[in-house]
Amino acid sequence: MRSVLLARRVFGSRRGRRLFLLALGSVLVALGALEQSALSRSRVLPYQDASLPAASRADDLLARMTVAEKVGQLAQVSVSKLTTDLDLNRVFAQEGVGSILSGGGELPGAQNTPRSWATGINEIQKAALDRSRLQIPILYGADALHGLSPVLGAVIFPHQIGLAATRDPGLVRQTTAVTSRGAKALGIRWVFGPVADVSRDLRWGRYYETFGEDPKLASELVAASVQGLQGNRPDDLVVAATAKHFIGYSQPQDGRDRFPVTLPAETLTNWFVPSFQAAVDAGAATVMTQHGAVNGTPVVASHALSTDLLRGTMGFAGVLISDWGDVSDLYCPGGTPPNPKFSCVATSPEDAVRRAVNAGVDVTMIPYDSAQFTSALKDLVQSGAVSQSRLDGAVRRVLVLKFRLGLFEHPYVDAGKAQAGAVAASDRKLARKAVDESLTLLKNRGHLLPLKKRGGPILVVGPAATSVSRQMGGWTIGWQGIPAGANPPAVTVLQGIREAVGARKVLTANWLSQADVRAKAKKASAIVVAIGEPAYAEWYGDTSTAALAPDQVRLVEAAEASGKPVVLVLVAGRPLMISALVKKANALLMAYLPGTEAGHGVADVLFGRVSPHGKLPVSWPASIKDVPMVKGMRLKDGKRAKPLFAYGAGLSY
Ligand code: BGC
Ligand code: BGC
Repeated sequence: MRSVLLARRVFGSRRGRRLFLLALGSVLVALGALEQSALSRSRVLPYQDASLPAASRADDLLARMTVAEKVGQLAQVSVSKLTTDLDLNRVFAQEGVGSILSGGGELPGAQNTPRSWATGINEIQKAALDRSRLQIPILYGADALHGLSPVLGAVIFPHQIGLAATRDPGLVRQTTAVTSRGAKALGIRWVFGPVADVSRDLRWGRYYETFGEDPKLASELVAASVQGLQGNRPDDLVVAATAKHFIGYSQPQDGRDRFPVTLPAETLTNWFVPSFQAAVDAGAATVMTQHGAVNGTPVVASHALSTDLLRGTMGFAGVLISDWGDVSDLYCPGGTPPNPKFSCVATSPEDAVRRAVNAGVDVTMIPYDSAQFTSALKDLVQSGAVSQSRLDGAVRRVLVLKFRLGLFEHPYVDAGKAQAGAVAASDRKLARKAVDESLTLLKNRGHLLPLKKRGGPILVVGPAATSVSRQMGGWTIGWQGIPAGANPPAVTVLQGIREAVGARKVLTANWLSQADVRAKAKKASAIVVAIGEPAYAEWYGDTSTAALAPDQVRLVEAAEASGKPVVLVLVAGRPLMISALVKKANALLMAYLPGTEAGHGVADVLFGRVSPHGKLPVSWPASIKDVPMVKGMRLKDGKRAKPLFAYGAGLSY
């Protein structure tokens, strides 16, 4: 009120009017300045502007970052290292770590439920953002190889070797799209899959993770997986896929995981490159290096492979990540390798970092001691041993990826929607279809199959008939398969058969008792023997024999001695050396590692609801002496050897 009166009085005279205008002018200027400074406080910086292209945003952000902040973006740490506030301060405030992963069986939250995953990842994201000067979100990664496999409750599809038997890229696109829908809903935006290694040696513990031995088939299915995981909008990725493990990983010496391999250039080009090239061409956002050495050089330290071949020849422009612990493993304290799988080329822990980064690794999956990594890399940049441009190139790629994932705009997920995102009603139908299409009928003497639902009782027996863990395989909930006490939804072979023909028609027996098997066999019209391997992952699955366990051999022998028709159902990650048993059996159905819907799928084929049409994606050697064998050729001498079942085998009704 007082100012209005004053204004009127001043405005009354000419001089007063001029004075007033002057005063008004300076008030306006002052107001403008005020507004300006308020604006600059809330102004959206170019890197925060979602309307700009990812590349320009990355350039802008990169220019604002210190060396320490940049180095942190190249570190990936295991979630098991984030348990206290002290950890969070160290990892995020001091080291600026840009990425966290769940290794096999590692949880971000208190429980293994979709909601707890989402809440846990949200909390880690908040801890990171609260401590980040430039508000750079973290990228959370996990292995989700056959469905959202680490998450309890999610539907598990067949492992890649089974999907390869379907020869159906459309199906693979669908299954991987289910995985990425779930992963995104939980905040897992980096999925370490697909496995682009082609199978070469069935003694290797990771054989089942591959799409088989044919580079062309593997290429098609790898491309389909990348598309399914990432979606079809390159600037708005659902998740980032990872083609792994680059390169030559699947043919380690003696089939032993992580052991070195010697490969002629031609073999590398013709057999190993195509499936990775397919991933690159399909736009795979990331690639992971393999654990071992090719021709004497660890891939993680090989500029020729990780940069010249992958980036130069193959045109990969995304993020290259090292595998679990491989960078620090380049240095062996004391200089002596603990065993042949280590090629300790580095002279110190810092030298290990230098070799990997200069070879072309962008992100290092450390996974534990991030302080060692980040301080080593900072020193290396300061001394010039790693160039500023090498550092910037790697960090820029990481930032571009984070922008393409929309993480700056949406760092958090809605935990209330995690459950619905992780499991949809239609997933099991798709899983059943995948099992139906993958099952590979290799023998069917006298057209024993399909079995008649109205025939006499069927004896269903064997460890794989009732074991959820066996049908899921490794990398399911836990690293080595389902841990004790976890009960994921699943239909076993026994349950599936009971459902198909009615429980009254199904007999069971204690498979470890041959007397019991013989007694029940007398009452049965046919015997379904479900045998195979327990769950395993990585080197835990290496074998020198690929033999069926002796107690299971005795079971099959007892069944075959009964004189009743025998159907062998093999639940395994690879062909087993069971020629003699197969000879006497009437039928053999290869089920691979079928996952949640194993029982429905097996029953669908056994009783003819579905005519089998899976085709063997690998060669099935008749004897371990012929291993490794690819397309009927022994790799050791390049000679043809008659396989028990050839690549592509598979009967229908
Ligand atoms: C495996 C990778 C996996 C990583 C993270 C490594 O040991 O080789 O395939 O992505 O662990 O769990
Ligand atoms: C992790 C796996 C990893 C493996 C490699 C395990 O402890 O859980 O994810 O692949 O170590 O050594």
